[in-house]
Amino acid sequence: MANDYPIGIFDSGVGGLTVAKELIRQLPAEDIVYFGDTARVPYGIKSKETVIRFSIENILFLLKQSVKLICVACNTVSSVALPVIKNHFRAPIVGVLTPAVREAVYATQNKRIGVIGTPSTIKSHSYENLIKEFDPEIKVFSAATPLFVPLVEEGWINTPVTKDVARKYLEPLIKKNVDTLILGCTHYPLLKSVLQEVLGRKVTLIDSAKQVGMEVKKMLVSENLLSSTKKGKARFYVSDNPEWFTNLAERFLGYPVKDVSKAELS
Ligand code: DGL
Repeated sequence: MANDYPIGIFDSGVGGLTVAKELIRQLPAEDIVYFGDTARVPYGIKSKETVIRFSIENILFLLKQSVKLICVACNTVSSVALPVIKNHFRAPIVGVLTPAVREAVYATQNKRIGVIGTPSTIKSHSYENLIKEFDPEIKVFSAATPLFVPLVEEGWINTPVTKDVARKYLEPLIKKNVDTLILGCTHYPLLKSVLQEVLGRKVTLIDSAKQVGMEVKKMLVSENLLSSTKKGKARFYVSDNPEWFTNLAERFLGYPVKDVSKAELS
């Protein structure tokens, strides 16, 4: 039965576990297959063509695992590749942009939203365009914040260096008086406390993982694909260096992962 097939989720590496964690929490009966493209991470500085090619290969890998739905956890892929490739696959595909934008548009009081993400995400203007579709009156201020990814992977969360970097990156957005900030990258939810400290308590941070989980659930219900099993299992695949992924995974998930396998992409 297709209902008992797993949900596939992929990211350029380990960061997508922030979304996987939420899927596992909200949909405990579902099996999950996670793929992290650790051989080719980071995607956030790559060209559109390259991100599209990698994304197609990742989706094909997940489809070989007989997944019933694909969740694109990576903001760069959701921004750059998803609009182009989405309709080329029969499986339902959920990205991270729409859930985040919907929440941000709802949250803003002064109609001034900030977006931070990788250079490729920001260059694509995907968040900005989508926000304008929801409400053309909203002003969007974006900033590429690439140093946050290695800082999180290094485990430097509440350190003076990270705070300095956050101040430098966020200063222009603070000057623009944004009251809502979209965390447009898989890694940034781990920096929430630092970002909130730098921005002040009045700015609402939008971490889309929870909304993405709800979107996936809604899609499974509407496609009549909810699992009938009682307790789901999660399997993890990477394209390189399972040890590296295993070591970092706990920071993102909050608990250790076992059995990370190396996947062969064809
Ligand atoms: N997963 C990426 C994103 O959310 C960040 C890491 C990368 O650059 O690949 O945009």
